[in-house]
Amino acid sequence: MITKKTINNTIDNKQFLKDFKNDVLKGLSNSNKSLPCKYIYDEEGSKLFKKITKLPEYYVTRSEFQIFSESGDFFGNLLKNLTCNIVEFGVGDGQKTRILLKHLTQNKIVFRYYPIDISSSAIDDLINSLKRDFKNLDSNGLVADYSCDLTCLRNMKTGTNLVLFLGSNIGNMNFNQSISFLRRIRESLNLGDYLLIGFDLKKDATTLQNAYNDSQGISEKFNKNLLNRINKELGGNFDLNLFSYLSIYDTKEGAIVSKLISKKQQIIKISSLNKVFSFAKGEAIHTESSYKYNQNDIKYLAKESGFSIIENLFDKQHFFTNSIWQLK
Ligand code: AVI
Repeated sequence: MITKKTINNTIDNKQFLKDFKNDVLKGLSNSNKSLPCKYIYDEEGSKLFKKITKLPEYYVTRSEFQIFSESGDFFGNLLKNLTCNIVEFGVGDGQKTRILLKHLTQNKIVFRYYPIDISSSAIDDLINSLKRDFKNLDSNGLVADYSCDLTCLRNMKTGTNLVLFLGSNIGNMNFNQSISFLRRIRESLNLGDYLLIGFDLKKDATTLQNAYNDSQGISEKFNKNLLNRINKELGGNFDLNLFSYLSIYDTKEGAIVSKLISKKQQIIKISSLNKVFSFAKGEAIHTESSYKYNQNDIKYLAKESGFSIIENLFDKQHFFTNSIWQLK
C-alpha cells in the first residue's frame, strides 16, 4: 500500500506562511541580506531542480546514479536477512532511490519506504510513479521539512532503520547545522541502524562553478524562484530582470556560494510584511551555499555526530561519494 501524509505543525499552510514571512523579514533586514534556500522548492522550484539534475554541467545526480547502479550487491549484503524501514529526507523525484529499491526487491529484502519532502507536489508525483513501477511496495510519503521533530523515526520500533540523505542535500547546510541535524537523527535511531549520506567531493573550481552556472540559465531561474515566491505569496514587487545571478566557489569556505545581485539602486515593497527594503546597486542576497567535502571532512562529521563510517562508495571519476554510517 502507498499513502501520503502531511506532518502537522511542520507544513501546515498557516504555519508555513508565518515562517516564510518571518524568515524573509529577518533575511532582508540583515546588513548582509539572505534568504533560506528551502523556500526555492515550491512546485515550480522542484520542477526547475529536476531540470538541473539533467543538465550536462550538473554531474552530481549522474555520479550518484552511477554509484547506485553499481552497488546492488553491496546493499544486498548489508541488509541481508533484515526487515528495514527506509526513511528518505529530501527525496525530490526519487530517481536514484528507485535503483536502490529495485536492488532491495531483487535481493528479497523486506522493507517499508518512507519518502519525506518539503514539496507536496514532489511527494504526489513520487507516489504516482512508485504505484506504477512497484506493484507490491509498502510506502508512506510524508510532507515535512528537515526541521520536523523526527518522531517518524522514533516511532519505528521494529526493524532496522536505514535513513537516506542523498544528492548532496547535506551540502546546503553549513558544518554546524549539519552536525546538529545529524545528531538529531542519531538520537532518533537505534543501535545498528544505518545512515546513507551523499557528499559532493571537493574538485577543481571550474567543474564546480560550471555545475552552478549552466549554459541554459536554469540554475539562475531556480535561485530567482525565491523572489518569484515572495512576489506570489507575500505580495512582493521584485523585478527578476533587475537582479543578476552569481555563483562562485569559495575555496576557503569549501562551498559554492550563490547570490542574487541588485543591478541598480531600488526599493522593494512586500505588502504582506507592510515593509519596504532598499537595495544599493551591487548589493547581494545570499540564496544558497553548496558545501563540498574531502575524506577528512566526512570523517569529522561522522565523529562529531556519533556515527561510525562503514563504507564510502565512489563513482568512476571520484566526483561524489555515498557514505554509509552506522550507529554502533
Ligand atoms: C539540492 N541541492 C543539493 C542542490 C545543490 O547542488 O546544492 C541545489 C542546487 N542549486 C543549484 N543547483 C543545484
